[in-house]
Amino acid sequence: MRVLVVGSGAREHALVLALLRDPGVTELHCAPGNAGTVAVAAAHLVDPLDPQAVAALATSLAADLVVIGPEAPLVAGVADAVRAAGIACFGPSAAAAQIEGSKAFAKQVMAAANVATAAARVFTDGDACAAHLAAAAIPDDLDVAVAFARDVLSASGAQVIVEAFLDGPEVSLFAITDGTTVVTLLPAQDHKRAYDGDEGPNTGGMGAYAPLPWLPPGTIELVHRTVLQPVVDEMARRGTPFAGLLYAGLAMTSGGPSVIEFNCRFGDPETQAVLSLLESPLGALLHSAAVGTLAGHPELAWHGGYAATVVVAAEGYPGTPAAGDEVVVGPLADGVTVQHAGTRLDGDRVLTCGGRVLSVTAVGDSLGQARKAAYAGVGAVSVRGGFWRSDIALKAVEGAIRIP
Ligand code: GLY
Repeated sequence: MRVLVVGSGAREHALVLALLRDPGVTELHCAPGNAGTVAVAAAHLVDPLDPQAVAALATSLAADLVVIGPEAPLVAGVADAVRAAGIACFGPSAAAAQIEGSKAFAKQVMAAANVATAAARVFTDGDACAAHLAAAAIPDDLDVAVAFARDVLSASGAQVIVEAFLDGPEVSLFAITDGTTVVTLLPAQDHKRAYDGDEGPNTGGMGAYAPLPWLPPGTIELVHRTVLQPVVDEMARRGTPFAGLLYAGLAMTSGGPSVIEFNCRFGDPETQAVLSLLESPLGALLHSAAVGTLAGHPELAWHGGYAATVVVAAEGYPGTPAAGDEVVVGPLADGVTVQHAGTRLDGDRVLTCGGRVLSVTAVGDSLGQARKAAYAGVGAVSVRGGFWRSDIALKAVEGAIRIP
C-alpha cells in the first residue's frame, strides 16, 4: 500500500512511524512532513491546505491511501478533493469536520443524539452575554471572560457559547469510524498547561500518557454506546457522515463522562502515546475506515503496557517561539522514540521552526517505567532554551487522580 500522510507535526511523525510497522505499507510519503519524517517518508513540498494540489500529488504518486493529520486541511476540503480523485482518504469531509470547527454545530448534534455535555447558551449580543457571565459562577476572572466575549462578538456574525464548567479529570478518547462502525482506541490524557502543576498558559499539549490506570472499568464501552456511536449515527442521519478520527474530549464528572468537545482528527500529543502501543497494522485499519469496511476489521491488538509522551518546546512557546536553534538528539534506549514537530533540515543540521519542537515517547510495562524512560529520552535531547514539563503522568503514577 502506498500511503501519503498530510501534515507536519509530531502527530504526523507518529502516524508515519506506526505506518512503517505495517508490513502492508510499501511506500510512505509526507506533504510536507518535517526533519523527522524525511528520514523515513519521501517529503513533498505541497501546500497541505490546497485541496487540488494534495489530490494531484496523491494521483501522481498512485497513492492507495491518503491520511490527513491536522484539522485545517480537513476544513479546507482536502479529503473531499482526494476522494473526488478516486483515492481512499482517511479524514472527514469539510461538512463533517464542522464538528470541531463549529462548537454550536457540535452542540446541536449532541442534543439530537442525546449525548451528555455541559449545558450551554449561545450569545450574539455582548451585553446579554456579559449579564449571563455575571450571573454565573465563573471559576477564574469574570472581567477577562467578559472582555473576551465582547471582543469576539465585535465581529459581524460572531457567536459566543457559554458553557457550564465540567469538573473531573479529562480523557481523550479517539474513535476510528467509517461513518457507520466505530472502533475505539486506548484512552489517553493530555497536559494542556505550559508548566508543571497545570500552571501557565494553555498550549496545544505538553505531554500525554495512555492508557489511564484510574479510569473505571467499562468507561470506554459506556462512551462508545452513549457518545461515539450516537454521534456517528446522527452525523449520518443529517447527511454529513463522519468518516475518519472522531476525538471525544471528555470530563469524568461525578455524573459520569461528559463531552467537553469533539475534534475531527487525531490529538497531539496523545497520538504519539496511543499509537506507540498499537500492534495491529495501522495502514490496514485506516484504509478500512476510508473505504467503509470497518465492520469486518479484526479486533485491535495492543501492547499490554503503557506509553508516556513528553513534549520539548522552544523558548517562548506558547507565545512567540524562538526559531533557528539547533536540535541534537543523542542515543535513545529501546522502546523510546522521538517524533519531530517544529523542526526543519538545514543541510545536515536540524533546526527549530515551531513552538512544539518534538515529542519523546516511551513504552513500558508500567506507567512509571514508561514515564521514567520518556524523561531519560528527554535527557538525550539538546536544544537551546528548550523546556518541558517534569510532571507528565506523575499524578496517575502516584494514584492521585480522583473522579469527583
Ligand atoms: N491535545 C489536544 C488536541 O490535539 O487538540
